Amino acid sequence: MEREKIRELIAGMTLEEKAGMCSGDDFWHTKAVERLGIPRSMVSDGPHGLRKQDQEGDHLGVNDSITAVCYPTGCATAASFDVDLVGKLGEALGESGQAEELSVILGPAVNIKRSPLCGRNFEYYSEDPYLAGKIAASYIRGVQSKNVGTSIKHYLGNNQETRRLTVDTRIDERTLREIYLPAFEEAVKKSKPWTVMGSYNKVNGEHTVESKRFLTDILRDEWGFDGYVVSDWGAVCDRVEGIRAGLDLEMPSSNGMRDQQIVEAVRNGSLDEKLVDRAVENILNIVFRFMENKDPNAEFDREKHHKYAGEVAKECIVLLKNDGVLPIDFTKKKVAFIGKYADTPRFQGGGSSHITCHKVTGALEAAKELGLDGNIIYAKGYEDEKDETDEKLLSEAVEAARNADVAVIFAGLPDAFESEGFDRKHMRMPDCQNLLISEVAKVQPNVVVVLHNGSPVEMPWVSEVKGIVESYLGGENIGIAQAEILSGKANPSGKLPETFPKKLSDNPSYLNFPGEGDVVEYKEGIFVGYRYYDMKEMDVLFPFGHGLSYTEFTYANLKVSKDNFNDTEEVTVTLDVTNSGSMEGSEVVQLYVSDVKSKVIRPVKELKGFSKVKLAPGETKTVSFTLDQRSFAYYETAISDWFVESGEFEILAGSSSRDIRLKTTVTVTGTKKIPVTYTIDTPMIDVMEDPRAIKLAEPIIEAGKMDSLDVSEGEGMGAAAEEMAEAGMLFSPLRNVLSFGNGTMDPKRLQQIVDEMNKQ
Ligand code: BGC
Repeated sequence: MEREKIRELIAGMTLEEKAGMCSGDDFWHTKAVERLGIPRSMVSDGPHGLRKQDQEGDHLGVNDSITAVCYPTGCATAASFDVDLVGKLGEALGESGQAEELSVILGPAVNIKRSPLCGRNFEYYSEDPYLAGKIAASYIRGVQSKNVGTSIKHYLGNNQETRRLTVDTRIDERTLREIYLPAFEEAVKKSKPWTVMGSYNKVNGEHTVESKRFLTDILRDEWGFDGYVVSDWGAVCDRVEGIRAGLDLEMPSSNGMRDQQIVEAVRNGSLDEKLVDRAVENILNIVFRFMENKDPNAEFDREKHHKYAGEVAKECIVLLKNDGVLPIDFTKKKVAFIGKYADTPRFQGGGSSHITCHKVTGALEAAKELGLDGNIIYAKGYEDEKDETDEKLLSEAVEAARNADVAVIFAGLPDAFESEGFDRKHMRMPDCQNLLISEVAKVQPNVVVVLHNGSPVEMPWVSEVKGIVESYLGGENIGIAQAEILSGKANPSGKLPETFPKKLSDNPSYLNFPGEGDVVEYKEGIFVGYRYYDMKEMDVLFPFGHGLSYTEFTYANLKVSKDNFNDTEEVTVTLDVTNSGSMEGSEVVQLYVSDVKSKVIRPVKELKGFSKVKLAPGETKTVSFTLDQRSFAYYETAISDWFVESGEFEILAGSSSRDIRLKTTVTVTGTKKIPVTYTIDTPMIDVMEDPRAIKLAEPIIEAGKMDSLDVSEGEGMGAAAEEMAEAGMLFSPLRNVLSFGNGTMDPKRLQQIVDEMNKQ
């Protein structure tokens, strides 16, 4: 429906009806106004399947929902580094959403994985905002191509579960702009999500759902968002303030109580009715967009989707380590499948994203389906309800391993370790599983560990095993993907969307997670994930972007379309990638940009492009990337804008953040200026930046020369005396000419010169 028509409809609504539109009818529906032909519309979780509750609703995944298909979770799909795949996954979700008459799927969830401990990391994409943004934009494009909306969440600064409803997340402006906003920004600008979900927490003292700055100034005015903003379920504190700020829809229903507050505020003149109209217009625009584009032929063929979930999972699995043990020839080798997760895998997390699955296929069953099971023996190895070693299960597992040629241990984090609603307490796997792995490794030289987890775990046994396969939480058909990867029917091609540190205390948020009381300060600033580990030159367990293949890739011919250009120009970077091994495979080529020398503190390098290419053995493809101003910029708070500092930048192409294969240098000229204001307190070193200012400051420099100071005389200080004099000069504020100069400069003249320096 056109906006004009919507406005006409709104003009015919009573104030009570309008206020009513601004909150849910129940847990999942917006309200209908029958006399005006406004229908109810249903929204549903997300993000990696449909949690449609057609009976009792709840936001914790406790009550029943319809049978649906659980796709790989966010952490896994990000590991695919494959925007096309995620787009297609979005289409599949959109189509099922159509079939189930859902106007909006509540996802994607793009919060940055700040700490490995965040309980909800499994739903989130990455520690890197560029990757998270690209994946999210693609997901949204896919879902919405089927005329079902998305709700990108949780906007903003919701990077932990501890006190998530009340915590105040303190983030400085540059860090907000460079780390926590960009995934939302990219998705909103490029894919126009129909809705945005405001988070529970506060940012810098303000509830995000009451923040005009975040909901209107940035989201709508800067990025052009034109859908509705919905509160996370139960996030609303001051409803009237929310309307003012740009929170359109409150969810779930407040049983009319907060609608009444809106009505009263309008009646007593403290709230402009136009702001209520604005919220209603935003909501109805989306309600009608869905209603008018319904696809009566949409189908949700669960069996087809189950199969597709396995296809997606295959692209997401990351091969972390392989000392020649993989792939396994199941026809020749006797293989012990050890661990409960071989039979009943952990493939999704607890909470609002929890799907009631159509069916679940674990590796054991998948191996049967693929006819690989002739030589497989299975031992359960552990229970996962409690972290206790079951001696009987342990010794059976060790026996099975002893009698096999290879032992594959299916391990990982149990539900109780990782879920929405609470954070992990440590980064370890259950002790009973770590023990099992070590005991098996004592009797069997060929051990592969297959992991099921939503974020990094410590691996005390890393050097005791020959292979490690990261499945993440790979959806209900993870078993097929695992069996195909283990057997070499498929070639692994996922890459880590986050760093696996050696231990929790290596993580940059360690000293400030989850904060003190209701305050968490992001003191690590922009140094999140690899940005920190690189800067610290720290050894990590597995770096960002890491992932092995059964084939080899070689990189050559890195070229940039220009090597000297202005930041207003776009340049193209190309390189050739060859599959130099003997198996078909896909490589994720990663492009990082590094500012060689910078006045501000910047990460060693940052991801600015990636591309997944499929290559037959011997095949070469040229991969191409576009770099623009933003690729070279940092956020300069002095001008509230992105800023490129003129100088040299390295363009790095690699197979991981720590496996850079090619590099070249370009010179970029920044075209924006940072205005400078001089005062008598400005140090000389800052004056030296600007030839015009130096010229004007000459009389000050002249008057500042201390004839009595002969650095060559500096008794006992030798070279230090010269250094000291030089530093003394550079770091002296202009006013020091009055204290240490030759007496020819007076305060009035000094101020006149400074005023002159400030004239443009
Ligand atoms: C979660 C959201 C979810 C909502 C509705 C909240 O608890 O934070 O991600 O979409 O519930 O279930």
